[in-house]
Amino acid sequence: MKIQPAKFLRGKINLPGDKSISHRAAILSAMAEGETRIENFATGADCASTLDCLQSLGVEIKRKNSTIFVKGVGKTGFQKSKTALDCGNSGTTLRLLAGVLAGQNFDSVLTGDESLQKRPMRRIVEPLTEMGANIQAENNCAPLAVYGNNSLESVTYQLPVASAQVKSCILLAGLNAKGKTEVRSPPITNCELRIPNSRNHTELMLQYLGAAIEENFVETENGFVHQVLLEGDSKLTAKNLQIPSDISSAAFFIVAAACLKNSEIVLQNVGLNPTRTAIIEVLRAFGAEIDVLHQREICNETVGNLLVRRRENFASEVTSNIIGGEIIANIIDEIPILAIFGTQIENGLEIRGAQELRVKESDRIAAIVENLRKMNADVEEFPDGFLVKKSNLKGATLDSFGDHRIAMAFSIAALFAMGETEIINADCASVSFPEFFQILSQITK
Ligand code: S3P
Repeated sequence: MKIQPAKFLRGKINLPGDKSISHRAAILSAMAEGETRIENFATGADCASTLDCLQSLGVEIKRKNSTIFVKGVGKTGFQKSKTALDCGNSGTTLRLLAGVLAGQNFDSVLTGDESLQKRPMRRIVEPLTEMGANIQAENNCAPLAVYGNNSLESVTYQLPVASAQVKSCILLAGLNAKGKTEVRSPPITNCELRIPNSRNHTELMLQYLGAAIEENFVETENGFVHQVLLEGDSKLTAKNLQIPSDISSAAFFIVAAACLKNSEIVLQNVGLNPTRTAIIEVLRAFGAEIDVLHQREICNETVGNLLVRRRENFASEVTSNIIGGEIIANIIDEIPILAIFGTQIENGLEIRGAQELRVKESDRIAAIVENLRKMNADVEEFPDGFLVKKSNLKGATLDSFGDHRIAMAFSIAALFAMGETEIINADCASVSFPEFFQILSQITK
């Protein structure tokens, strides 16, 4: 993909459905009693992998553009797949389905592409094993053999990392376990705003579909812990779902419009779940002008329209340019685009405590640093992050490292650069956002 520098962004756009919420919508409506219509289902390959796996497990699914119809089979009504379940590039598909399959009365194999086969799975193997599941995985990596056990025990599990995939995996297994499953997040020091330190879409949707689930903040010696309690005999009743647009996809355009003079864009029906909106707070603190319009609740999730303009006096209100600590898990998918933002703001940006980025679809710290250097940016790499200074970017030939968010973040960097940028293997953007390049060319001038 070849990208030219841009002058500004203009337009009103609708983005595809949120990837995280779409995975959960497909899986939970498959586990529910009754039929579900899901609107604005994510269009990317990752969520298609979830649908394919569910179909291989005997779930009837029909798709008409971005509307999906799912015939629920109930919590234990899945059928053994004839083949290994291919999760493609999608960690969420693999980790969430492992939780579902642990409690079925048949065996399954979950696998994925080269990148997914390198990602850490011990984080789900451990809690599922504690619940009585039998999972075999060489070096704790996919392929994962899940020997189903229909008499799982509930657990109280303290998460070592703030991971929504791991939390959701345990909760989904907990739906088929005896008793009450409890998942506790790593401690946080500030819970005034009552925002969990990993996305809580699974909890909200379980509650929406009628499960007996509770979320609390519990004070412990080390700080506050987000606690989720789920009754194993919870029933799920099918209810139609509308998926908000993906704020993580919106973030690419928000950064572009916040940085390019004379820009003004409106992003409609964006998911504004408080566990996901830290990106807006961070960008605002560094001078971006982002207004939320028509905020409302849809299917237990907060939704709104975003108006993003390039401010005349683009000035930061912060005293430190270091972002680290508890907020990291809430902006984890937006860090590649934040790195690009860092090249455009006065004191640059330093990201710390983000070692999880090294085990995403690519080693995102290494990918960000390598590509920024190719674009002439002043950047330093740390084991847990990077420091990028304000830089005059120049066009370059870059690798996407097969990672959708790296491809899209550097396409935005290309808008700010001098000269043309070429991104090799940019097609991987379709893992989460197949329409990205088309929308980008429509709104850039
Ligand atoms: C996701 C959780 C996050 C995120 C990923 C989607 C989810 O991963 O990076 O893109 O849908 O639960 P972790 O749970 O591994 O932090």
